[in-house]
Order: sequence, then structure tokens, then C-alpha cells
Amino acid sequence: MVLLLKGSLFGVPGLLFLPILLASFINASYLPAKTGAILKIKNKPVQIDEVEKNADFWLEKAEKAIQDQLTKLPITSKAKNVILFIGDGMSIPTLTAARIYLGQQRGESGENATLSFEKFPFTGLAKTYCVNKQVPDSACTATAYLSGVKANQATLGVTSSVKFGDCKASVDPNNQVTSILEWAQRAKKSTGIVTTTRVTHATPAGTYAHSSNRDWESDKNMRESRQNLSMCKDIAAQLIQEIPGRHINVILGGGRVKFRDNKLKSEEGKPGQRKDGADLIKEWIKDKEALGVEHEYVWNRDGLNKVDKNKTSFLLGLFSEGHMDYALKANKDFQPSLSEMTEAAIQILSRNEEGYFLLVEGGRIDHAHHDSQAHRALDETVKLSQAVETAVNMTDINDTLIVVTADHAHTMSHSGYPDRGSNILGIAATSDVDRLPFPILSYANGPGYRPSGKSGKRHNYWEDDLDRDDFKFPAAFPNHKETHGGDDVAVFAHGPWAHLLVGNYEQNIIPVAMAYASCLGSRQTYCNNSSS
Ligand SMILES: *[C@@H]1O[C@H](CO)[C@@H](O)[C@H](O)[C@H]1NC(C)=O
Ligand SMILES: *[C@@H]1O[C@H](CO)[C@@H](O)[C@H](O)[C@H]1NC(C)=O
Ligand SMILES: *[C@@H]1O[C@H](CO)[C@@H](O)[C@H](O)[C@H]1NC(C)=O
Ligand SMILES: *[C@@H]1O[C@H](CO)[C@@H](O)[C@H](O)[C@H]1NC(C)=O
Ligand SMILES: *[C@@H]1O[C@H](CO)[C@@H](O)[C@H](O)[C@H]1NC(C)=O
Ligand SMILES: *[C@@H]1O[C@H](CO)[C@@H](O)[C@H](O)[C@H]1NC(C)=O
Ligand SMILES: [Zn+2]
Repeated sequence: MVLLLKGSLFGVPGLLFLPILLASFINASYLPAKTGAILKIKNKPVQIDEVEKNADFWLEKAEKAIQDQLTKLPITSKAKNVILFIGDGMSIPTLTAARIYLGQQRGESGENATLSFEKFPFTGLAKTYCVNKQVPDSACTATAYLSGVKANQATLGVTSSVKFGDCKASVDPNNQVTSILEWAQRAKKSTGIVTTTRVTHATPAGTYAHSSNRDWESDKNMRESRQNLSMCKDIAAQLIQEIPGRHINVILGGGRVKFRDNKLKSEEGKPGQRKDGADLIKEWIKDKEALGVEHEYVWNRDGLNKVDKNKTSFLLGLFSEGHMDYALKANKDFQPSLSEMTEAAIQILSRNEEGYFLLVEGGRIDHAHHDSQAHRALDETVKLSQAVETAVNMTDINDTLIVVTADHAHTMSHSGYPDRGSNILGIAATSDVDRLPFPILSYANGPGYRPSGKSGKRHNYWEDDLDRDDFKFPAAFPNHKETHGGDDVAVFAHGPWAHLLVGNYEQNIIPVAMAYASCLGSRQTYCNNSSS
């Protein structure tokens, strides 16, 4: 009986009757501490189809998968357009858990669900370490997957000759590297960045900034670390005033505070954080007026909807003071979804006959993981999957290369022996040591660490509502913020030259492969060799 309990029974979703069933023969410590806690497992029992008992079911499915695979031939035409999707912190366990979460939202068991990009024909694995760190951050990895050069932790758009915080070294042109977004602009393509974070945050900034400290997003941030403001420019100012930032056609995300002085109020009546008197949003508008280009600044979803995408060539949309809200709690009247932003960006960028480069980031998967809020991390991953589907639907596989990857992993693990259909946010089983339950998802470290109480007993997870979107999943040891993981990340590719991204490789080959596919950059060889 004990053996049975250990592995399986507690994971069964149809547990509604379990307390009654088990109370008669098991120790009380197995049971929910509060009456009804078990009812919090929301999943209705999911029937596993009888057909799964047949060998033919599986063999036919496998045969069909192989037939599909045979149709996925390499495409060797030129990629007119390149779209790079980054799930910030979207580790492989995040993908597995998110697809189960997605399936369970449709009332299925979940394990056999598929995120949109998991259907892409070619996949690989990227090694994410940076020059000075085995486990990297989002800035050095952005430099790798956008500029093709590995760098030091927390630095952007510079080589590893630049140490963290070394303003002087970062302005030496010999130490600066350029991103595929800049290569695309040189080739007269349109360019865009879309994110759910501040548009000055590490991932989007990797396309346009050169900074020895990713946190120097505004002059205030630089003043606080006592930097020479006449030598180094903050990241928001680089976006508005420098090349390639100034020439980016579509900029959508959050982060208004980084653009306005603290004496100025935003559209929502909130002050900026700059101390130099600047209103960089106004400056952006004036600059586009001076250039005589069709432009639009919007600050909410309605404004975005009203933009004439057939006319506008420059669009700046800042939908919150800081990061945009998690989709689970966002006011959808004010904040557009990642899919909606992606759609608007593609509508505008695709008007360029020369093509475009677009970066789209699901940036808050990472933040949710740092807070050990796995529910939010999975939901944000599903939102990224939807945005990818939007892009796939709007583009042609023969001329648009779409790459979906993560910058780095996290420490969330997917464990226990939960039964098929177990709520991915629920309990896996009870420990065979202390007989107390543990969730399916947990972290190596983070704020979800719960020390044993006075009784010496481990925290009892039956007492918690694990389905809450802000529930902090357990950690083996405490940290205010859960850390990144050092494991490889998956790379999914679709379109011309997607097959270049098969295998296990260094993360910095990604932009070089994308450049090869679309004849960008000075080192690419495809168009030199190709007769077309
Ligand atoms: C996944 O498996 C379940 C259980 O057998 C089944 O009901 C469901 O239709 C399957 N879903 C997919 C997408 O294959
Ligand atoms: C700040 O940088 C400027 C420009 O490089 C330089 O002229 C000035 O001497 C620097 N000021 C300090 C205090 O280092
Ligand atoms: C924008 O252009 C597309 C394609 O040419 C067209 O189908 C659509 O009706 C246009 N939309 C507007 C609002 O003009
Ligand atoms: C993409 O296209 C498919 C097939 O037409 C459709 O079922 C799906 O809803 C579309 N998805 C999005 C996100 O637009
Ligand atoms: C892409 O090109 C191939 C080969 O020319 C063709 O068979 C296929 O139908 C094209 N696909 C689309 C979506 O246009
Ligand atoms: C490819 O052609 C471009 C443009 O002519 C040239 O600048 C570049 O050096 C060539 N690259 C190689 C590897 O031959
Ligand atoms: Zn992070």
C-alpha cells in the first residue's frame, strides 16, 4: 500500500474520493491538513483514451510522424525576412510544463499537447555560457544570439574586453559589436523590437545598445552608480538618439519611466525617473517629424489598434511605466497581448520590399521563474507560443525564417511520478521519507524555500492553494530571487536555412546562421556562393 501511495495515487486527478477511500487505512499525516484542500486540485478526472492500449495506435501515430518528417525538407531560398522569438528563461522543463498546462486548459490530459513552435521542422540545442560565467544572464546571452559574440555577464553589445561597469572601455569602437538588427538596417530592411518588458531591458537592448552595465537604462541609473554621463549614454537615450536605435521602425513594450524626467507625468499620471529633464518620447516624435516619415506614438491597446499599419513606418508603443503586466493580471483594455503587438509589427514591417528583421521577446517568463511563480511562467510561455503562431500564419515559410529559442534556462524541475493528466501545478506524490506531499514543479533555489517549523516537520503543501498564479513553488535552498540555470536551451527553426540550426552548438552561431539565410552582414557567404 505504501509503495502505491509513493508513486501514483496522489497524482491522480480524480482524487475527489481519495480522502474517504484512504482515510480508513492510512496514517493521518498523508491527508490534507485542511478539510477540502484536496478539492483545490482543479482538474476534472481526465479519461485516458482506451485506444492507447492498442499497439497499433502508437505505431500508426509514429508512422504518421515519420511521413510528416519526410515532407519537411530544407528550404534553400533566401530568407527575405527573419523573426527571432526569445522566451526569456524558457528552459526545456518550462516547455514541457507549459505544453501540459496548455493541454489541461483545453480539458485534456496535457502531456501530448504541442506548443506552436514545437511543430517546427528543425530543432537544436544551444550552449548558453558567457565568457566569464558558466550560468549566464540575459545581457551576455543577448550579445551572443544577436551579435554573434560571447561577452561578460551583464554587458551588452561589447566584447569581453569590456569588464562589467567599465564605461570607458565600452565606448571604444574596437570593443563594440553590432547586432543582426543593425546588419538588417544596412541592407535597407525594416526592423522592429517587441517585448513584454521595458524596451530598454537586456533582451531588446541587445539589438541596439552598447553598455558595460545592462542596468544603465536611464540617466538616473547611471548617476546612481556614479558614472560619467558625458562619456557613456544610458540605454534609453541610445535607443532614441543613436544608430541603430533611431532607425528601428517598430518599438513595442513597456518602460515609459526610462524615457521621461521625474517632473514629467505619463499619460497615466505617473512620473518618469530621468533626472536630466529629458522627454525622450517627445524627442522621438520630433526626430521622426524632422525625417518626414509617417510615425505614431501610442500608449495603450486602443491606440495600437487605431494605428494605420498600411501607412505608418515608425511606431513607438509604450504600454506601461515599467514592464508590462503578466497576461494573467493585465488590464486587457490597456495592454495589448504579445500576439497583438507581434501582428501590428509584422503588418508594418512587411510593407518593405527588401524584407525585415524582427525580435519578439516573451520577457516575463524569466521574472515569474525568479519569483518561483511557475504558474505565471507557464502562462507567459503559452502566450509566446500564440505570438509565434500569429507570426507563422502571417508569413510564408519560403521567404521568412522564424527562430524560437531562450536566452538561458532556469532551475525549475518537473519531477515525482505524477500520473497522466495530473494538474501540472499540483502535487506529485508524498515523500517516502517524511510522508508529506511535494509539488510536481520545484526549484533548485529561490524564495519558495520553506524552513521546517518548530515541530521539525517539513512544510505541508496540502495546506496551500497551488493553483494561485502567485504561488511560490518550493526551493531546496533560499534565495531572494531564484537563479538562472546553466543547461542548454532548445532552438526551433522554420523557413529558409532553418536546417542550419540542427545539432548542439554555441549560442553565438544563431545570428550568423540567420545572417547566412538572409544575406546579411559582411561575413555571410550564402549570397556569394548562390547563383540567384
Ligand atoms: C491526448 O491524450 C488524451 C488521453 O488519451 C486524449 O484524450 C487527447 O485527445 C489527446 N490529445 C492530443 C492533442 O493528442
Ligand atoms: C567625463 O568624460 C568626458 C568625455 O570623455 C571627459 O572629457 C571628462 O574629463 C570626464 N569627466 C570625469 C570627471 O572623468
Ligand atoms: C491594408 O492593406 C492591406 C493589403 O494591401 C489591405 O488588405 C487592407 O484592407 C488595408 N487596410 C486598410 C485599413 O487600409
Ligand atoms: C493560425 O491559423 C490556423 C489555421 O488557419 C488557425 O486555426 C489559428 O487559429 C491561427 N492562429 C492564430 C494565432 O491566428
Ligand atoms: C514553398 O516552395 C515550395 C517549393 O517551391 C512549394 O512546393 C511550396 O508550395 C511553397 N510553400 C508555400 C507555403 O508557398
Ligand atoms: C561576400 O560578398 C560581400 C559583398 O560583395 C563581400 O563584402 C564579402 O566579403 C563576401 N564574403 C565572403 C566570405 O566572401
Ligand atoms: Zn533572469
